[in-house]
Amino acid sequence: MSRHTDIRRLTAPDITLRKGGEPIVCLTAYTAPMARLLDPHCDLLLVGDSLGMVVHGLPNTVGVTLEMMILHGQAVMRGAERTMVVVDMPFGSYEAGPETAYANAARVLKETGAQAVKVESGPSVAATIAYLVERGIPVMGHVGLRPQAVNVDGKFRAKGRTPEERAKVLTEARAADEAGAFAIVVEGVDESLAPEITSAVRAPTIGIGASPLCDGQILVTDDLLGLFEWTPKFVRRYADLKSVIDQAAMAYAADVRSRRFPAAAETYALSAAKERQPRVARGDKRG
Ligand code: KIV
Repeated sequence: MSRHTDIRRLTAPDITLRKGGEPIVCLTAYTAPMARLLDPHCDLLLVGDSLGMVVHGLPNTVGVTLEMMILHGQAVMRGAERTMVVVDMPFGSYEAGPETAYANAARVLKETGAQAVKVESGPSVAATIAYLVERGIPVMGHVGLRPQAVNVDGKFRAKGRTPEERAKVLTEARAADEAGAFAIVVEGVDESLAPEITSAVRAPTIGIGASPLCDGQILVTDDLLGLFEWTPKFVRRYADLKSVIDQAAMAYAADVRSRRFPAAAETYALSAAKERQPRVARGDKRG
């Protein structure tokens, strides 16, 4: 629930209504403080299973569990007030069939308070999307490069090189759309395929490594902030936080080693007279 009653959180229908209109701004978030920072600027925050790689240091997203997604989903919901929050269904939590998917997706919604789930939607997942939507669970589809299929594909590889591959991605998108997905992530596809998908489906498309002609865009926030040495071709770095953190940690380490930190103002002198004043009066709320 929103901390301020006058702030209304965006919903799945709000996002769907943006088809063909002002581009939908989406980013990933995994923690409460980051969600709080991104909330004023975004329409949708995705608790992506990319958190397995970005936060937990896994080699890909296959090892991510439902419990990890729920824990991070809860954190993001504590930070975001206005944006729609979508939680990724991790590998193994929805592919076996609609009923397992429903039980797991319902758990995600109940335990996090998020408004929707996302599934990587190969054609066989369309029936599951329809089953969930019919039972009150908004679903975002995800076509093109599907990171959870890394063991089948062998590596993360953009899609749409051949006419067959283009047709396959278009079929996946149409299937997710017809099943009732409220929006569809289009990841890592040939630049000319993304607008083709966008005009073929009713749901807004959210591009990543796709095209500016999608209905919205998403990036992994940590990539955009420049927290990694390497970023994929499709990422635009808007900051170089890696260098900022490096500089800050280096300066701190030097201060600790030379005993310049902490200074007198950064310590508690409890026996001194000034310390008899209430701490709050000095602005120290931590006690
Ligand atoms: O897991 C994720 O962060 C995603 C986005 C990159 C779309 O699926």
